[in-house]
Amino acid sequence: MSSSPISVVILAAGLGTRMRSRLAKVLHRAGGACLLEHVIEAACEIAPRERIVAVVGHQAERVRAEVEHSGVRFAVQTEQKGTGHALGICAGLEGLDEGRIVVLYGDCPLLRPETLHQLMQRHEESGCAATLITTHLDDPSGYGRIVRYGDRDSDRDRDGDQAGHVLAIVEEKAASAEQKQIREINSGLYCFEAASLWNHLAALQPNPASGEIYLTDIVAALRAAGHATAACVVDDASEILGINTRVELAEADRLLRQRKARELMLGGVTIERPETVTIDKHVVVGSDTIVGAFTHLLGTTRIGADCRIGAGAILRNAVVVDEVEVLPYSLIDDSTLEARSRVGPFARLRMNAIVEAAACVGNFVELKNTRLGADSKAMHLAYLGDSVIGANANIGAGTITCNYDGVAKHQTEIGAGAFVGSNATLVAPVEIGAGSYVAAGSVITDAVPEDALGLGRSRQVVKEGWARKRREQTGK
Ligand code: UD1
Ligand code: MG
Repeated sequence: MSSSPISVVILAAGLGTRMRSRLAKVLHRAGGACLLEHVIEAACEIAPRERIVAVVGHQAERVRAEVEHSGVRFAVQTEQKGTGHALGICAGLEGLDEGRIVVLYGDCPLLRPETLHQLMQRHEESGCAATLITTHLDDPSGYGRIVRYGDRDSDRDRDGDQAGHVLAIVEEKAASAEQKQIREINSGLYCFEAASLWNHLAALQPNPASGEIYLTDIVAALRAAGHATAACVVDDASEILGINTRVELAEADRLLRQRKARELMLGGVTIERPETVTIDKHVVVGSDTIVGAFTHLLGTTRIGADCRIGAGAILRNAVVVDEVEVLPYSLIDDSTLEARSRVGPFARLRMNAIVEAAACVGNFVELKNTRLGADSKAMHLAYLGDSVIGANANIGAGTITCNYDGVAKHQTEIGAGAFVGSNATLVAPVEIGAGSYVAAGSVITDAVPEDALGLGRSRQVVKEGWARKRREQTGK
């Protein structure tokens, strides 16, 4: 392989009119990441981050903020005057005057690193000034068409060898009726030699009809100067198609989810009815974990080995250690489930809830910013907010921590081995000592010391014969 450096320019400045959205196209999400993030990640496979430049324009600050963590560079195209103009913004950027310049469009999220490697290899072999990825579509409408030597399909060489060099790319709007019949299309993925790119790019003229400078015109310009352009034909068209409408966005999302599920299954995860699950790009799942149908695993969720994630559970930014069971229809946000813990069905955990090892959270229990100690249990119908609960505690059905007084949030501390009876109301701030009991139905406003019994309810009164007398009086 050539040792000349590779830089990548990703064009992402357009609004994407066909999305009919106020949001810049590249910020729309598919497969759990915005379109541009997918393209940046693919680019990172062939070039170091400092050699990747994203050209932003529409909602530049927002786009930048969304992908800044990737460590790539940015260039701003203040007016969107076409793809050729967008690339031209990068002329003169440090490091881009040498080696090879790969150009990608930010609306192409299905692109796989393997395809970029294929492009680089083809470029290497061809020795051309430019190489571009093309594919054949049954319905090529909307795409730039590839014009090769000879204008009949039979003259074109699918492998794109020397004889099959590309003459020009003709955009749909400018294409003649005959050219519209061409089914080989431009993907918008190119590799250029920096040495011949920049000066020819600078000389491109705006398209007379639209006033935009089309990057695609570079092919004819290079040819006029005696430089050849090779094509790298790929068979799987789906991965190189640009997203222009929300219909295409939904299709890209479906394909990305399918790809992710497949990757996990091949890595040792069982997924029931994989076509129904929604798993984001960066989610990690350990081997022999079983993921039920209709689950959503989102954001930065990491799941260990030998877990069971029940049907319909939704986990976002969750950390799930090994051998954990999440029963169906639980919602887990920004929370941690330690080894062998068990949660659900219908549990809700949020804002840094931590369920320690082998602890259990049952149905209709909500934990917010609460740590439930190892082997502790809160099995039914409870709200535990801003609480720290020790190991081996038992939290009865219907227990409520009253953590909010209308002004501020307060903490509840429950010591190890404490037993909180059903329907207890713990008015925070309050401490329940280790090994203590809280009687069922209590309203607890003062600390219960270690090993004590806290009782906060009125004493029961029994009136003997009362019911019989009432029946006699009413006759009922
Ligand atoms: C482009 C190609 C077409 C190809 C198709 C593949 C051109 C002229 N046409 O058409 O040959 O078949 O992609 O998907 O290049 N952008 C900017 N600044 C601009 C204009 C666009 O950064 O001034 C960015 C957009 O944000 C987008 C990308 O360039 O990410 C492509 O633009 P788009 O409008 O989608 O081009 P297509 O019409 O799809
Ligand atoms: Mg496009």
